[in-house]
Amino acid sequence: MNDNIIQKRIDMFYMYTSFEDSPVEKIVTILKSNQSKFISGEKLSKSLNLSRAAIWKNIKKIQSLGYKIQSKTGMGYKLRAKTTLLLPWEISNGLQTDIFGRKIYYFNTIGSTQDFALRLTERPYENGSVIISATQTRGRGRLNRKWISPKGGIWLSILIKPNFEVSQTSIFPMVTSLALAKAIENILKKTPQIKWPNDIMLNNKKVAGILIDASVQSNKINYMIIGIGVNFRIDSKKILKSIKNSQRCSITTLVEKKDSADPIKLVQEFLLQLEQMYNNVISNNISKIRKEYINRSSTIGKSITLRTHNGIISGKAVSIDKNGALMISDGKKTKRLLTGDLTSR
Ligand code: BTN
Repeated sequence: MNDNIIQKRIDMFYMYTSFEDSPVEKIVTILKSNQSKFISGEKLSKSLNLSRAAIWKNIKKIQSLGYKIQSKTGMGYKLRAKTTLLLPWEISNGLQTDIFGRKIYYFNTIGSTQDFALRLTERPYENGSVIISATQTRGRGRLNRKWISPKGGIWLSILIKPNFEVSQTSIFPMVTSLALAKAIENILKKTPQIKWPNDIMLNNKKVAGILIDASVQSNKINYMIIGIGVNFRIDSKKILKSIKNSQRCSITTLVEKKDSADPIKLVQEFLLQLEQMYNNVISNNISKIRKEYINRSSTIGKSITLRTHNGIISGKAVSIDKNGALMISDGKKTKRLLTGDLTSR
């Protein structure tokens, strides 16, 4: 295979991280700190110890990542606008967390961010690592469903290695969905509701879903991989066509194409909310989380039907307990359920 073809393949599937300085990131940093003036190719080449040709090639790459760069003969390059891609250095810049997002991996495409996170579980120093991909080819949803993940969505996984008892795993759908709903409210000024256990709904349509993979050993959690999929700026009609009737609720985009909302800010706020709530779980302070979750629930008080491993259950959703379990009453008995597929009656 000739070098050009190999290079093209590398360019097709690329990965950036927040902890290895790539020339792309270095050039972006210099351009950002000189936003009001042009920086010559020569200056960039000297300060980064790269050839002029390498600078030019990287400028092209940076432009393909969505940054608007003006180039003028004899003057050099100037940054006009930054990207909205969830690039690691853009997320890190201004991120207020201590652990979540300490390391960020970004792909332009991947099978599933959950599966990549799984590959990191055996490695040290990966607690809190975040894996993001612009698109996924084998995105996974709850209950073994396919998760369609086109460009414009937020597809990310967080790997955590908590020192928790197994019984605490069921709190995480509640914690994660609340963190996401609050982040959406704080950044986008929209008020989403939560459909039990963890679908984020806007006007009765799903805008985000959460998938949690966990591994347990002798009553302790080895690791948890929290996956969130946000239909941030997507064409919901296209997605609906490909999922046909396999997913029962309808979906929508969180923001419209013309809306200038910044997904980077939403991810930063979500990681912050999640970390703060995670610390509350560690200190066993979950009554506030439960209360806030119930306030945002679109399920409590409704007559519902739930598909479970043991068949179909119908009744009124009366409450959520402190472990995130749904309490359903048929008027005589109240059942406690930790998982299931919900449809409103
Ligand atoms: C659901 O079914 O509602 C959960 C969807 C979770 C999708 C996200 S996208 C990022 C992460 N990677 C995956 O393959 N799935 C989750």
